[in-house]
Amino acid sequence: MAPFFSKDYKMKIIQITDIHLTTEGKSILGRDPNLNFQNVLNHINENQYDAEVIIITGDLSDWGETSDYLRLKNIIEKNKIPIHLCIGNHDDRANFLSVFPTLSDKNGFIQKVVKLSKGSAILLDTWGPETHAGHFCMNRKDWLRETLSTVDEDIFLFLHHNIVDTKIKPVDQIKLLDTSLLREVCNEFKDKIRFIFHGHCHLILNGSFSGIPFYSPRGTNHAAWPA
Ligand SMILES: [Fe+2]
Ligand SMILES: [Fe+2]
Repeated sequence: MAPFFSKDYKMKIIQITDIHLTTEGKSILGRDPNLNFQNVLNHINENQYDAEVIIITGDLSDWGETSDYLRLKNIIEKNKIPIHLCIGNHDDRANFLSVFPTLSDKNGFIQKVVKLSKGSAILLDTWGPETHAGHFCMNRKDWLRETLSTVDEDIFLFLHHNIVDTKIKPVDQIKLLDTSLLREVCNEFKDKIRFIFHGHCHLILNGSFSGIPFYSPRGTNHAAWPA
């Protein structure tokens, strides 16, 4: 979980990542992802209740199962702080859309703009079929370019996959493969994009991409660490 404050400390948004929900009663690496996600959410609701939005940057479900999305939908509907979703490589876009049918853009990608009190969050879809690596095609690039061209405010980008090499081989093999397309847009709009948030690596990372700072927190269930 990563609370992020705007430059004047008048906006708080929270990123959660890699919750990996799974069949109730099943564990991942000896830990219960459903319970851990609920614990994180309880903590936020109790201690970070002034956050205006929570954004989960993918790997919502461990196996992309519809039942996980149904449980997630139920939780989101009850939560006071609005929760918005990106999908990750462990998700299944078709199953996700069967539960959240209104969340696709005109091309069928899970991308949208979330209005904030100090700018907007733009959520990107980096999912590709039958691969754990990330993808960002011309359709997604054009949508982002078009969207950025029409807004004149601070933008916070959210996506699942890591956008730079970590020098950890298994992680870098499944990073976002089409970074050049994303970089072109980031170069063009670097004065507008204030921050990039991603997940996927299950460890804390930060750095810059096209001069824009980025950050990735640990997942809520199983953490990773550099070997
Ligand atoms: Fe993950
Ligand atoms: Fe992932």
